[in-house]
Amino acid sequence: MLMLGIETSCDETAAAVVENGRRIRSNILFTQEKIHGKFGGVVPELASRQHTAVISEVVRLALDKADVRPRDLSGVAVTQGPGLVGALLVGISFAKAFAYRQNIPLFGVHHLGGHLAAIRLEYPEIEWPAIGLVVSGGHTSFYFMAGSKQFVLIGRTIDDAAGEAFDKGAKMLGLPYPGGPEIDRAARGGGVAPVSFPRHRAKGDSLDVSFSGLKTSLRYYLERSGFDPVRDASDVPPLAAAYQQAIVDVLVDRMTTAADRHKVRSVLLTGGVAANSALRSRMDKVCRDRGWALLVPSPILCTDNGAMIAAGAFLKEAVSPTEALKMSPGAVPRLEDG
Ligand code: KG4
Ligand code: ZN
Repeated sequence: MLMLGIETSCDETAAAVVENGRRIRSNILFTQEKIHGKFGGVVPELASRQHTAVISEVVRLALDKADVRPRDLSGVAVTQGPGLVGALLVGISFAKAFAYRQNIPLFGVHHLGGHLAAIRLEYPEIEWPAIGLVVSGGHTSFYFMAGSKQFVLIGRTIDDAAGEAFDKGAKMLGLPYPGGPEIDRAARGGGVAPVSFPRHRAKGDSLDVSFSGLKTSLRYYLERSGFDPVRDASDVPPLAAAYQQAIVDVLVDRMTTAADRHKVRSVLLTGGVAANSALRSRMDKVCRDRGWALLVPSPILCTDNGAMIAAGAFLKEAVSPTEALKMSPGAVPRLEDG
């Protein structure tokens, strides 16, 4: 069974072919990082336009690399949401037309469900139950997963995503976009600034997180101290380390509470921020101490990609080719769960 997966929810135009929900035959990515870099964040209008410009080529490359003809495909899967509506619509419109034209079923896939499904591509044997944590530029969501087909949202950010907190913090420190890898690198430069950045405490039993207070706190600190990114370049590494530590503390604290509460056997960590070295080593330690298996896919499967959407399709109901053009709902920018 060969599934074409298409992902256009944010700033990556991605397509992949996955065989039997397990084997990646191709995974093609066109990243728009350079286009949005000069604006310091994703510009939705530009993202949609760029997806439109390259989607046919990205799909063609995915089919060529997999050595698959459109008529060999068993289905086409596309991200339905959450994401930027204009960006989602490009992938969805393409996938609808493709399914109709090739007479193959269409699958609408939840973006975060796709992130979690991608983990099975590299870890076929997962010990359930598990906590799934998706940490990216657009999302910070905790899921309880009783098995591969069920994921229940149990906590999330109430404001900025963790990646956004990294990106905005980096910008204030004069580091380029995307800021996460920059902060990660700078933080290894030596020392931790003695600044008491706030760690958001959830109310009651909530597993929600928040990063906007942290971001504001960095801004006030820099304003108060008259920080200048050029003159005070030597202050950047210790400040980056302190800021990063605050983000990591919050994520690790909430993940540990969630995993304890649900008595899980595994922790699945994915999304662009999963690349963060401090987060990785702290998660590693906690999971080892508590006997939880920590599963983190390789970078290409952590960030947005088409293979995760193809993998997610195997958990969803098909829309027949004749119904494909009417698939309802179409793009759902705030799609809530799987
Ligand atoms: O999953 P992703 O590629 O795209 C979406 O947001 O959908 O995640 C990108 C985010 C950006 O905010 C980027 O700064 C962050 O992941 N990121 C990192 C690291 N690498 C990427 N954040 C912290 N440390 C990193 N090493
Ligand atoms: Zn994503």
